[in-house]
Order: sequence, then C-alpha cells, then structure tokens
Amino acid sequence: MRELLRDALKLVVPEKDEVEAGEKAEKELRKRLKDVGVEFTFVGSYARKTWLKGNLEIDVFILIPTNVGREELEKLGIEVGKKVLDRYEVRYAEHPYVHGEVLGVKVDLVPCYKVESAEKILSAVDRTPFHHEWLKDKVAGKENDVRLLKKFLKANGIYGAEFKVKGFSGYLCELLIIFYGSFENLIKNASRWTRRTVIDVSKGEVRSGENFFVVDPVDPKRNVAANLSLENLAKFVHLCREFIKNPKIDFFIEKDFEVSEEKILEAMRIRNSSIFALEFERPEIFEDNLYSQLERAAKKIYEHLEREGFKPIRYHYFAEDKCYLVFECEVRELSKVYRKVGPPFEEYEHVDKFLKKDRIFKPFIDGGRWWSFEIRKFTKPQEFVEDFVTKNFSALGKNVGEFIAMKGFRIIEGPELLKIKKELAKMIGVVG
Ligand code: CTP
Ligand code: MG
Ligand code: MN
Repeated sequence: MRELLRDALKLVVPEKDEVEAGEKAEKELRKRLKDVGVEFTFVGSYARKTWLKGNLEIDVFILIPTNVGREELEKLGIEVGKKVLDRYEVRYAEHPYVHGEVLGVKVDLVPCYKVESAEKILSAVDRTPFHHEWLKDKVAGKENDVRLLKKFLKANGIYGAEFKVKGFSGYLCELLIIFYGSFENLIKNASRWTRRTVIDVSKGEVRSGENFFVVDPVDPKRNVAANLSLENLAKFVHLCREFIKNPKIDFFIEKDFEVSEEKILEAMRIRNSSIFALEFERPEIFEDNLYSQLERAAKKIYEHLEREGFKPIRYHYFAEDKCYLVFECEVRELSKVYRKVGPPFEEYEHVDKFLKKDRIFKPFIDGGRWWSFEIRKFTKPQEFVEDFVTKNFSALGKNVGEFIAMKGFRIIEGPELLKIKKELAKMIGVVG
C-alpha cells in the first residue's frame, strides 16, 4: 500500500507553478485588503496547504464587528469583493459571498462576524475562523494525507457537503486525518465504522451513539458529519474495505464512464418495468435549496406510487439545464378493477350505507366482512403521476411547485429517456 500511496501523491500534490501562483495571488490580495482597511483572515484549504492539485482556490474571510447589521454585513462583503477582486460575482450560500479572481487565481471572499468564541456564532460561517485556528498547527505535516483522502472521496463522488453530494466536507477530511494520524490508518479504522460510530476528536475517543457523529472540537454540539448521508457513509466504509483488500490507483481516479444507447435500451428490455421521468424548467435558486426540494418531491411521488400499488423500486432526481424526477415501477399497468374493504357484517348500519352506493358490480362477502369492486381512474403509473402532480404541485417544494404550476411539466418515457442516459444508468445499475 505504501508504494501505491506514493504513486497516488502525484495525482494530489500541486506542482510548483500552482503553489507559486497561489503565493503571488495571496500576497497581492493581502496588499489590496490592507489598502481597503478591513480585518481579514485566510482560512480553508489554501491557508492550510491541503487543497487538491488543480483545485487552487483561496478562501478569505472578512471579519466584521457584531454591532453591524446583517444587511450591512452583506453589503460590506460585496463592496470589498468589488474593490479587491479582478473579476467577481455574487454567490449565495447561507448568506451572500463573493467569488472572483486575483491574478488568475480563484478566490472566495466571505464576510462573517467577528465573535469571541465558536459558541457565540451568529451564523454558520462565523465558525470557520475557529476551525482554521484549531486545525492549522495540528494538520501541519499531514497535508498530503488530507489530499489523498480528498481525492479518494472525490474520485468516488462523495467529496463535498453540499446537498447534491451529501458527502465529506474539507473540514471533516482534515479532522479525520488529524484523529487517525494518516490516510492509511484512517482507511484501516474506517473499514470498521458503523452507523453508530461517534468520533470525538478533541477527547481523542471513539464511542457508540445514536448515529454517525463527528464531534466538532470547536463546538461540541455540532456534528461535522451532519450532511453525510447514511448511503455515503456506507459507500465509504465499503470503499475502505475494498481498498484494503486490493489497493489500486483506480481508487484515486475519477471514472467518467460512457454508456451506450444500446446498453440502456437492452437494460429496459430485460427489466420490463415502467421507467419514466418528470421534466420541468429549472428554477434559478441556490443549488442546495433546489436539490432538497427535488428530493422532497421525488420522495413524495414515490410514496404515493407505493400507496397506489404500482410497486416503485427506485427513484432519482437531478438538475441540469432542466430538472428531472425519475421513477421505476415494477407495475406497468394495473387492472381497471380493484377490491376495496367494507364493514364487518355485524355493523348493520355501516353495511346498509355501504351497499347503498351505486356500483357497476355487486359487492361480496369475504372473511366476515363486505368488499366492493371499484374502478381505478388511472391504471398506469405515469398517468397517475401526471394527475397527482397537476393537483398537488404545492406539496412538491416551494420553488419547484411554483415552477411546475407556472411553466408546466412533461413526462418522458421510452427511447426519449436516452437523453438522460447517464443518470438513468446510475439509477438502474447499468455499468458503462
Ligand atoms: N465556507 C463558508 N461559506 C462559504 C464558503 C466557505 O462558510 N460560502 C467555509 C466552509 O465551511 C469551510 C471554509 O469556508 O470551512 C472553506 O470552504 P471550502 O473552500 O468549501 O472548503 P475547504 O476546506 O477550503 O476545502 P477545498 O477547497 O479543498 O474543497
Ligand atoms: Mg477552499
Ligand atoms: Mn472555497
């Protein structure tokens, strides 16, 4: 494994010119910030030399006194960004920040409150300078282990705490390396993690709790792994086990797979299921917010498909130029007729009422109670979903619901699904 890790370093450690570009930009940015006269601090992976080769990005936080109002803080951040960055755009996270460039190097400039301690933060970003203070000496000497971990995660699609990924944040990576001492030792230990593992970094102990929890050394109530999904925790543990069994450079290389149209069509033929997708326009909102609404919408529709007897087996959601909610059901078509439960024969009044209803077919008795034959409105899952979404768009998330109501949606199925073949391949387990 040692030898392999030495090879992997070539993929993760930045070349000299990348480091120099960073240093030049840092120097220039410090000068410009000094001229503007604001208090600032360099944080994140650039400040700690833990950024991944080819991913140089400077994170700088502007420290603003707590007596300044929230709106004023946001305005200040944008103003400073305009002054010190060569190119800039306002981006939105929990609150607005500025993304831009200095001497060709990417920069995130984030205004935050200067608070006394991490327990007194006014918003999540205020914690970041404390994270940096805690990490900076402890991570020294272990930078490349952090980089190996980030790349291992990135190559497997689980680096990043944003909703779209639900994986490991940069901060979490650094804490894990500090706790276990090295990439190799982390992998060995993580291959025995469970969904109840609690890692208490500042106490230096591992225990069992209610769910996977990495205690923030700067704020013990906070779970640094809060955004890591159970699925991705499981995926990571599995990857560690596979890596130990058979260490290969492949674990550090992103796989950009191509999948042929034939393969997808063949898969659809073999499965003989009902696969279809809802397609609608993409609302221009912060991506985390969009993805959480898409997940909610997909889950809701999935539940209703279950309740209606269509036996859904998988759902998927994603946003590209448009948004897609994708479903697969075991049932392609149900019969027109179904049986509906009525009262036990002893409940005379209920029985009389039950039998009074107008029906095409006569009710029957089974197991001591009445049943009726009812006629379904929709026999195909797509038809049901079309009707459900038209009537319940408001239950699908604020902006997603509004967009569907305003701009409509479309159901795509059959060969048209080939236009989302990559995402479809992921959902139905087709390998490239
Ligand atoms: N951060 C934040 N608000 C933002 C951007 C970043 O609070 N709008 C914080 C993050 O929580 C993190 C730090 O700033 O603590 C740096 O963020 P990021 O660049 O995403 O992570 P790094 O640790 O620098 O890792 P890398 O860039 O290598 O992925
Ligand atoms: Mg960064
Ligand atoms: Mn950043």
